[in-house]
Amino acid sequence: KNVICFAGKSFLTMAMCKIVEEEGYNLDVASMGELFVGLKAGFPRKRINLHGNNKSREELQFALKSKIGHIVVDNFLEIEMLRELTLGHKKQTSVLVRCSPGVDPHTHKAISTGQADTKFGFNIKDGSALEGIRQISEIPGLHFDGIHCHVGSQLLDNDSHLTAIDAMIDLMASVKKNIGLDCAVVNIGGGLGVRYLEEHNPPSAEEFAESLVGQLITRLDKHVLGRPVLQQEPGRSIVAEAGTTLYTVGSIKTVPIKEAPKKRTYVSVDGGLSDNPRPQLYEAEYSVLAANRMNDAAEKVVTVAGKHCETDTLFRDVKVPDLAPGDILAVQTTGAYNHVMASNYNKLQRPAVVLVNNGRAEVIVERETLAEIIKRERIPARLAGKSKRK
Ligand code: LLP
Repeated sequence: KNVICFAGKSFLTMAMCKIVEEEGYNLDVASMGELFVGLKAGFPRKRINLHGNNKSREELQFALKSKIGHIVVDNFLEIEMLRELTLGHKKQTSVLVRCSPGVDPHTHKAISTGQADTKFGFNIKDGSALEGIRQISEIPGLHFDGIHCHVGSQLLDNDSHLTAIDAMIDLMASVKKNIGLDCAVVNIGGGLGVRYLEEHNPPSAEEFAESLVGQLITRLDKHVLGRPVLQQEPGRSIVAEAGTTLYTVGSIKTVPIKEAPKKRTYVSVDGGLSDNPRPQLYEAEYSVLAANRMNDAAEKVVTVAGKHCETDTLFRDVKVPDLAPGDILAVQTTGAYNHVMASNYNKLQRPAVVLVNNGRAEVIVERETLAEIIKRERIPARLAGKSKRK
């Protein structure tokens, strides 16, 4: 059996939770806030997994109270907190154990997670994973349901997942041998990449699934183990290509530069770092189209910049038609890790999110208002009297 747990961190709104539920997926959340969104959307609680490498006591309490499907335990401190918090519980809480399989994926270092040198999970090689599972097995309030890993994100081949599967199934065998427990669930995380540029060629979901399942079965058979439920946690590969960001072109200027072709044209748009921090964080690249000029040849090379008070270059040297203020740029593949990573830098109002289905467009997140920008602010009484209003 294969269960898809949509990784909420990639794009989470209540409407999205409804879609995830409708598709029959589970939901993976990584904080109390994400769990709150899922619960508010009425997502079936037994189909929610909670992640986090530093869950607070409050988060664990909230998850226990909400009776979610799995808590994915990351570290020994968390085991101690769960021991205490589940004391006297009549019903056991199911947990998965987050492991680091020691796989170095081929992706940007900021989104690699499976390597041994990581803050995530229990190290498999040094015996921490086995020790964690042993401790969990001795806590009456907890039920050990299986193991979890996540190797990295935006992976354009299967290599690291295949290596991770080997390490995970070897661990499964050693859990059986040393502790006598079965892993009902093996969760291998998310990570399948998507097409940001034309030349990106990620495996299809089918190819990916087939190769993973093939490897899983080979390794299970080698150890003569039964078949666990295979869980996967894709985020990006589900939502990224479904998202397009629309910007309006504003000021356009051409400046002299040292290198060829001796000049650069900056096209500034009405957003930037605050709605898409990925170019600066991960050197991410995107395909840019001029939505209102799709029939014009894209023969100009320009650099699209944001409107923040710093050099927030969004897309360097992209080919577009001859643009004018008011034109609309459509940036492809912005469905994942854009809306959720947006900020209010320079007090920009975060953009609306519109869901399009069968020709119907519906707002699922309103554009932020000016009032919302100061909603959480307070002026202490000692400062309140001082302003000299005119
Ligand atoms: N499961 C776990 C435990 C994860 O940590 C992640 C992503 C996923 C699943 C989903 O991975 P995906 O299928 O989306 O690759 N902000 C970065 C990406 C960070 C990914 C963190 N973890 C970006 O914008 O590229």
